[in-house]
Amino acid sequence: MKIIRDKAELRKLVRDWHRTGERIGVVPTMGALHAGHLSLVDAANGRAERVIVTLFVNPKQFNNPEDLDKYPRTEEDDAKKLAPYGIDVLYVPGPEQMYPDGFSTNISVAGVSEGLCGAARPGHFDGVATVVTKLLLQTGADFAFFGEKDYQQLQVVKRLVADLDIDVEIIGCPTVREKDGLAMSSRNLRLGDGARAEAPVLQEEMQRAADAIAGGTPAAEAMAALRSALEAAGFGEVDYAEVRRDGDLALVEGQPDSAARVFVAVWLDGVRLIDNVEIGDLRSLAAE
Ligand code: PAF
Repeated sequence: MKIIRDKAELRKLVRDWHRTGERIGVVPTMGALHAGHLSLVDAANGRAERVIVTLFVNPKQFNNPEDLDKYPRTEEDDAKKLAPYGIDVLYVPGPEQMYPDGFSTNISVAGVSEGLCGAARPGHFDGVATVVTKLLLQTGADFAFFGEKDYQQLQVVKRLVADLDIDVEIIGCPTVREKDGLAMSSRNLRLGDGARAEAPVLQEEMQRAADAIAGGTPAAEAMAALRSALEAAGFGEVDYAEVRRDGDLALVEGQPDSAARVFVAVWLDGVRLIDNVEIGDLRSLAAE
């Protein structure tokens, strides 16, 4: 595995691969790799002849400077975790590679970026869309892999790739969970012991809400009960607890008539946790 920090060096390698007909799979990350990221690497290895993992903590997607400061930076560990996967390149561009002096472009995706994390974190998805566009172009990706844990991000990336005619297939991969049900996230490292023990209640309550909706409870009613349950369990502020349709993320308040999910962002121990859970019997209905 070669570590590359320079985009010109990466471009040259990518051109050589494409010239010989090899397809490139890319897994964009901000590091602090866990089993969720590694499942994306497995998926990329299964699909492409060449695999690049990118590691860049993107300042443009943090609307809170404290959050950016606290974000774990563990490049050496990340490289060790990737070693057994036999990938070709770990691409670690510095900010001067991504946002050189004079950088003035912003990619903004309307519709699917609005609501949920887009409403709670203004500017976040512009930052994600801008950096992902750059990473896809720099790596010449034929396939790019994103986790469904960040389901809204996945829809934003699918939309921008379709709108900007970027020739890459975006592949969503299932959320990987700890044994106790907590969705894997780099942010989990920041939970204290007590909060870590409490955190799986989030997924349990979300699943209860999803089951209630599948059993006929209107979405708005189930979401009110979910908020109360999280507050009673000791969680902090709930940024949102909503049911949204798969694909276009339209808000559902009654009974969903196509595939839909429960989405929550909630604070615990100063850490913002997000998760989403499919609604039972609607899983089989077409999303897009
Ligand atoms: O999901 C992430 O880790 C980031 O949002 C991404 C896609 C790497 C862009 O910075």
